[in-house]
Amino acid sequence: MVNKNVTKILIGFVHELPEKLGKTVLIGDREVAVFKLSSGRIRAIENRCPHKGGVLSEGIVSGEFVFCPMHDWKICLDDGKVQEPDKGCVKSYQTAIEGEEVYLIIEE
Ligand code: FES
Repeated sequence: MVNKNVTKILIGFVHELPEKLGKTVLIGDREVAVFKLSSGRIRAIENRCPHKGGVLSEGIVSGEFVFCPMHDWKICLDDGKVQEPDKGCVKSYQTAIEGEEVYLIIEE
């Protein structure tokens, strides 16, 4: 069995996160794009597009997807997968909401 280190980091409060707009969160040298969807769910993915490094927190959110602001690649906010016809993946992170507090869960 592989033991994973799990870190839980407070990244903000539900009411502060604008709906369908990304927020960039810096955790050490890691940049994470955090989104509050219209459903109220929170999603977090690596902030750099695998195509040419577009900043995903500046992308347009539609449903469970974000469109990269540079060349419009469509990336799933659930699992970080780039949608066809493009290919690739960004890291996705789990989040947790406790009351008003939003946490990022990092497992490694
Ligand atoms: S950099 Fe994201 S689609 Fe090109």
